[in-house]
Amino acid sequence: MNILFIGDVVGSNGRRRLLNNLPRLKRQYGADLCIVNGENSNESGTGITRSDASDIFARGADVITGGNHSMRRADISFYSENEYILCPQNLLYAEKGCGVCTVDMGRYTAAVINLMGTAFIENHKNPFFRLDEILKEVDCKTVIVDFHAESTAEKAAFAHYADGRVSAVIGTHTHVQTNDERILPGGTAFITDAGAVCAENSVLGVSVDLAVAKQKYLKPVKFCTAEGPGYICGVLVQTDREGKAVNIEKVHAEFR
Ligand SMILES: [Fe+2]
Ligand SMILES: [Fe+2]
Repeated sequence: MNILFIGDVVGSNGRRRLLNNLPRLKRQYGADLCIVNGENSNESGTGITRSDASDIFARGADVITGGNHSMRRADISFYSENEYILCPQNLLYAEKGCGVCTVDMGRYTAAVINLMGTAFIENHKNPFFRLDEILKEVDCKTVIVDFHAESTAEKAAFAHYADGRVSAVIGTHTHVQTNDERILPGGTAFITDAGAVCAENSVLGVSVDLAVAKQKYLKPVKFCTAEGPGYICGVLVQTDREGKAVNIEKVHAEFR
């Protein structure tokens, strides 16, 4: 099974580029399942609305995952309405099932889980224990986890903890694609961060001037996302009939 995972889509630029390119990327990679992290896909660069989500689904995403910005434009009920829009299941206020779904594609069935780290980010429920609880109820061989976290060590430790029990642990949130994609000894594919869909001339997708002002003066600024050329980052994970990963490769498509 070929799983195309796209990292954090940032703002109107990122969303527009994704919408223009997703059908082509799905064909190019022969994607059976397409997962997109949409926590920044609103034009503001934070959160996601119903219309942002429906645009992304319309272009071929099967599941949209989230992160620490999931609640910026929505409340928890948003995530109960559509089972294929996920927010981290370990949020303190998450309702059962908000961060887990099963996609039945006829030939294939896969579960997608969204969890969030706790280091250098809001401290929600421990994702390690949460994963154990979720896996007791998941009845699929192919299981993909979007682990939305800041700390590289927490991401790697979590991936090794899940190794052999899920097909892939794909890190999101830092918006920088890492060069460490690999298959762990138990057959779980892992990358610390899938990267983002955003302008290259930006600070993680945010306009440079605003990001510099925030870092220099520590002043709260209203972020605005950057326009211009950039890239669509993600990974392709291939799994066998038992749900073990047999390949993981980076996706990095430039747009002009
Ligand atoms: Fe993000
Ligand atoms: Fe995030």
